[in-house]
Amino acid sequence: FGRIVDFHESIDSTNLRARRLAEEGAGSETLVAADAQEAGRGRRGRSWVSPPGKNIFMSLILRPDILPAKASMLTLVAALAVRDGIESVAGLSPVIKWPNDIVSNGKKLCGILTEMSAELEGIHYVVVGIGINVNLEEFPLEVRDMATSLFLETGGKVVRSQLIAAVLEAFEHYYEEFISQGDLSRLISVYNKNMVNAGKEVRILEPSGEYKGRALGINEKGELLVEMPDGEVRHVISGEVSVRGI
Ligand code: BTN
Repeated sequence: FGRIVDFHESIDSTNLRARRLAEEGAGSETLVAADAQEAGRGRRGRSWVSPPGKNIFMSLILRPDILPAKASMLTLVAALAVRDGIESVAGLSPVIKWPNDIVSNGKKLCGILTEMSAELEGIHYVVVGIGINVNLEEFPLEVRDMATSLFLETGGKVVRSQLIAAVLEAFEHYYEEFISQGDLSRLISVYNKNMVNAGKEVRILEPSGEYKGRALGINEKGELLVEMPDGEVRHVISGEVSVRGI
């Protein structure tokens, strides 16, 4: 994984660059990485804090032979890989907030933005973009309450290339398991074990409204199963959904 690397001192966004490369035919497992982004993008049209010299910005091009409906699991696979990488390199054990935030003390350490080009029958490519707040000492005021970095959490600096290598190694391991095996139960149980929402009361905010229930865990499609007070189990699909604690 990541044996073909496209590195930039500065780029608009590693996701945009990876999509352009994928459109031009770049192979599966190509890694795009940058020291800084001029237009780092988050989910829901937000921007992503991307100054030079501090954090990790990378995007993987994948061409898995799976149905598009299964692709949202790739984001969860990436979340697991980042969590493991952080644990082994920084000695911190963050949790995953479904679907794809890595969180420490309630603040975000990493965000993942997955974008795909697909038809009904198959996937052309998926770009999994990963932003990890590594050595940044101070965030802009607007995000200070929500964001943190490994440095702010541990007081220690991390060599970014080591963390990238650890994340890629873990990603390769989970990705192989995801695409080769019909049975995803091990992956699902590892994810659920590391998911902060599991077993907790949550509020689900959808464009159409809000409801409360108890998060049970994810299923094989990466959907969050939420048990309603009357026992009905709803399948929550990531996207325009926000999960909050109560
Ligand atoms: C989120 O909103 O939580 C997702 C943030 C994803 C940020 C990463 S940084 C590398 C890649 N390039 C981008 O422009 N975004 C992703």
